[in-house]
Amino acid sequence: MTPAAAMRLAIEQAEQVKGSTYPNPPVGAVILDSDGQIAGVGGTQPVGGPHAEVMALQAAGDRAKGGTAVVTLEPCNHHGRTPPCVDALLAAGISSVTYAVPDPNAEAAGGAQRLVDAGVTVSPGLLADEVEKGPLREWLHKQRTGLPHVTWKFATSVDGRSAAADGSSQWITSEAARADVHRKRAAADAIVVGTGTVFVDDPTLTARRPDGTLTDHQPLRVVVGMREVSLDANVLNDDSHTMLIRTHDPHEVMRSLGDRTDVLLEGGPTLAGAFLRAGVVNRILAYVAPMLLGGPITAVDDIGVPSIVHAQRWRFDGITAIGPDVRLSLVPN
Ligand SMILES: NC(=O)c1ccc[n+]([C@@H]2O[C@H](COP(=O)([O-])OP(=O)(O)OC[C@H]3O[C@@H](n4cnc5c(N)ncnc54)[C@H](OP(=O)(O)O)[C@@H]3O)[C@@H](O)[C@H]2O)c1
Repeated sequence: MTPAAAMRLAIEQAEQVKGSTYPNPPVGAVILDSDGQIAGVGGTQPVGGPHAEVMALQAAGDRAKGGTAVVTLEPCNHHGRTPPCVDALLAAGISSVTYAVPDPNAEAAGGAQRLVDAGVTVSPGLLADEVEKGPLREWLHKQRTGLPHVTWKFATSVDGRSAAADGSSQWITSEAARADVHRKRAAADAIVVGTGTVFVDDPTLTARRPDGTLTDHQPLRVVVGMREVSLDANVLNDDSHTMLIRTHDPHEVMRSLGDRTDVLLEGGPTLAGAFLRAGVVNRILAYVAPMLLGGPITAVDDIGVPSIVHAQRWRFDGITAIGPDVRLSLVPN
């Protein structure tokens, strides 16, 4: 197997554990034996458990000796809740390490240098772009800015409406698109809505499998607004934890979620407008249905753009067909 193919497999491993590793990064690793065959794969386990490299080494056993480790993030070099991954790689007799992204965290960095010093061949940067935009996107943002990464996700008709005139919005998009949203939720740390969405839709805001059962990891549910939420509201059921934040200030919401990494903003047009005005949205995921609704309920309220020259400019970084719908991914221009 080529190193690039092994890295793609490591990226898949990382995607699979996304959401379950908080506050650690979701990392994937593949061990190739000395003949270049896959000997073991692994992903980061929930906090306190083994990191990806250790999982993959355990799966590889003796076949790791003289082999290559392919990892999405530079192997760590510090004693946290678990021993340094560099120690495990050296103890297993790995002779070369290929990784995608250097560790930006000063405490954990230095792994590559220690491996080089120990005589291991180290190749950084393989598919770094894919890893940075993919499984490590939110974690890297948190490391660089200290703030959670916010994705505004919404479903819209092709004419930019997020509900019909009577407020009903279930469902604009197909089952396939909604299943995709549930996968995103299962990987997120928190889902944020305003009280308006809770009153109109009474959503549960859980991550569910296609058969309706709850996924293992449930994000924190966050409701923003001054109005009292009824104890009967689905968002207060026992399926997950819920935080009620009495504010209209997106920055205060961000502070309340300061220890989180991956936040999904799923509110209606009012909250989405407030977050966009405040400049705290890092990515947009628009699920666009081939449907026209017309009427007054647009996907987003006023975002403080008085004229076209002041438009918020974003750029598409992914366009994906999902069933009959399209998922548009946008990042700031
Ligand atoms: N298509 C979609 O993806 C989607 C997603 C969600 C909702 N929806 C639809 O959107 C509609 C609900 O819209 P909405 O705009 O009322 O929902 P919302 O944005 O979720 O909630 C609005 C409420 O949030 C609070 N709030 C928080 N920050 C605010 C701020 N800076 N300024 C003003 N209010 C703030 C206010 O509550 P208080 O008055 O309590 O302070 C406000 O009434 C429903 O028809 C629903 O079906 C569609």
